[in-house]
Amino acid sequence: MNIHYTIKFWGRKDPTIFEQIINGGKKIVDPFCGAGTSGYVSGLKGCSALLSDINPVSIFISGNLLNKTYLDEKTVKNLERELNEIQKRCYSVDSGILQEAVYMTYYRCPNCGELVSPMNRENGKLVCNCSKRFAQREAREAVDRVREVVLQDWNGGLRKTNPKEYTEDILINSWYPKRKFEYERNKAFKNLPNFGKRVDQIFFPRGLKAAAETYELIESIDDEKTKDFLKLIFIASLYSATKMIPYSATSGPSWKIPRYWTPPVKVERNFIQTFIRRLRYLNKMKKAWSELVKDYEIFVDYFGNVETGNDKYLSIVRSDARDFEPPEVYDVAVMDPPHYGEILYFEMTYLWQCWLYGKKRDKRFRDFRFWKKEIDVNLKLRRDLSYYNEELAKVVGKYMDYSKKIFLILHNSIGYQFKTTLKLLKEKWDVEVKTVELKVPTSAQGIHGRKKRHLYLLEIKN
Ligand SMILES: C[S@@+](CC[C@H](N)C(=O)[O-])C[C@H]1O[C@@H](n2cnc3c(N)ncnc32)[C@H](O)[C@@H]1O
Ligand SMILES: [Zn+2]
Repeated sequence: MNIHYTIKFWGRKDPTIFEQIINGGKKIVDPFCGAGTSGYVSGLKGCSALLSDINPVSIFISGNLLNKTYLDEKTVKNLERELNEIQKRCYSVDSGILQEAVYMTYYRCPNCGELVSPMNRENGKLVCNCSKRFAQREAREAVDRVREVVLQDWNGGLRKTNPKEYTEDILINSWYPKRKFEYERNKAFKNLPNFGKRVDQIFFPRGLKAAAETYELIESIDDEKTKDFLKLIFIASLYSATKMIPYSATSGPSWKIPRYWTPPVKVERNFIQTFIRRLRYLNKMKKAWSELVKDYEIFVDYFGNVETGNDKYLSIVRSDARDFEPPEVYDVAVMDPPHYGEILYFEMTYLWQCWLYGKKRDKRFRDFRFWKKEIDVNLKLRRDLSYYNEELAKVVGKYMDYSKKIFLILHNSIGYQFKTTLKLLKEKWDVEVKTVELKVPTSAQGIHGRKKRHLYLLEIKN
């Protein structure tokens, strides 16, 4: 059982880091909880924990990973039967089931209109046969061409087929989100996906159909807890339907961290098979987890109301780290804020929030303006390094009253940023710095293709 491989969450930390930090503490508080790793480690160690985050999707992920919901065998079997029907409708190709397809994006030359291979580059710029050089964003359009298709026969065997274009129209009758990638009107994301201005445009057509039909199936279920658990599996599987997974010939289908939007050589997976695999894996994990935390009370709240138990508890609350008032004093505060501007959480979880908000406009996810309150570096939103440092220092200051020990986790990716943060903190408090090696892949490695990275662990003393 390892929570790390349940859902990709950017910047999620290796559980062993939290083990080091907790180090015998009994009550933990984590105001930047992300996907809930500190809560998971608290459960393993028999501690209580109060987690919070500004992002409603974080609360959803943490809440559904840490609560005691799992499905019985019969429900799983029934679901699988219905999912297989969706699979047949969406992925039947050439008398087989599409297993995976590799695409390369070609860019239309702004000069002569020919398609240019993404491999034809000099110093990062695309080079056309007509000798025009141009940047990707200057292309007239981007066209995905299929290069390789792997099918599964009805008897389960795999075979490769000749690449052919799948141009037939795919009709989608179920709801799917069509929101734009923007903070608010006329304020587009900092990292706009290549040629996708709307959420639905970064999906492969059959993937979008499969996802939309699966979501409709989930929405038809009565039990709210089951529904949420399946929605967690849904968002965890969603990448396989999008153009976000980079393809590399050597590594095969593995735990790849999706790119920050669509890479030029990408792979389409079979969403239904991903969903079923993830369902089995998460269900097994949740069953074991429920046993482990059977004497815990678990609270999840999206509207800032804190509840805590008399005995052992895990409580997950949506709140801005600066406003939050913990109801008691904790042994350890662990803080893993956004690492400067490396990952923009509102942008990264937006795709999920759009689905979760849904056709029914689930009120837990209706806040699409919390980006205003994020603590990170985003020049497009006029948040610079000094803003980040000041706000972080405010949070640290606040938790001085609520915890006996404070640990802050920071990246070493850009040295001068880290130095300025450290300088500011040292002006106010006594700070001890340790370095921690990363044991599991992080999104930062995935995005920048860098090798070995480490983290800084700061202990802040009053
Ligand atoms: C590096 S992630 C935490 C990852 C987490 N430790 C894990 O292992 O999954 C940083 C988190 O800080 C949250 N955040 C950003 N600004 C915040 C604020 N003002 N208040 C609370 N949380 C905030 C983001 O939503 C994001 O989930
Ligand atoms: Zn040209």
